Amino acid sequence: MLSFTHVHHAPSRPGAPTLLLLHGTGGSEHDLLPLAEELMPGAGVLSPRGKVLERGMPRFFRRLAEGVFDLDDLRQRTAELADFVAQASGRYHFDPTRVVAVGFSNGANIAGSLLLLAPGVLGGAVLFRAMVPIVPDPLPTIPRTPVLISNGRVDPLVPVAETERLAALLRSAGAEVTLEWHQAGHQLVPDDVAKARAWMQTFSS
Ligand code: MLT
Repeated sequence: MLSFTHVHHAPSRPGAPTLLLLHGTGGSEHDLLPLAEELMPGAGVLSPRGKVLERGMPRFFRRLAEGVFDLDDLRQRTAELADFVAQASGRYHFDPTRVVAVGFSNGANIAGSLLLLAPGVLGGAVLFRAMVPIVPDPLPTIPRTPVLISNGRVDPLVPVAETERLAALLRSAGAEVTLEWHQAGHQLVPDDVAKARAWMQTFSS
């Protein structure tokens, strides 16, 4: 039994990567399926549902307040998600070195945490409306791992300086960070999808 309720679709295009879809607070394993199809048609999909419930809303880790994370819980949930991806690759026979996260909000934050606490699990990541999840000491090395941060300039939850701090943190760990700003708040806009779709070409084989 895999440890998360999830959806898995095998790729319909041979050699395509597997997109690890990580929804936002209150979302489900179904939320990002249409987005994945827009970003990379034919890719494999692994989409777990976050196990933490905040007033009934699924999330991937606990928070103490908005933007204030329970770091012990985050560490534990990140390790659990890393194990899930490894187990799922055995069960569904996808290449564990070709997993690209696509996360929104809380999902982007646990994707960032996977990059920083479980280096090697992700071959890349698209982080929509992401924050700094944790600052590990020492920093891991994730050399040349492609990461797209797609954030809004007028996001009430994620100040501009927070986004810049995240980009700097991932770059100092060695990631190849592309930062796309949008004239947007916390919700995605069509330009997020267009830019991310173009960026995803990095992973087309
Ligand atoms: C988080 O808790 O991860 C962030 O505040 C984003 C959110 O889920 O609202």
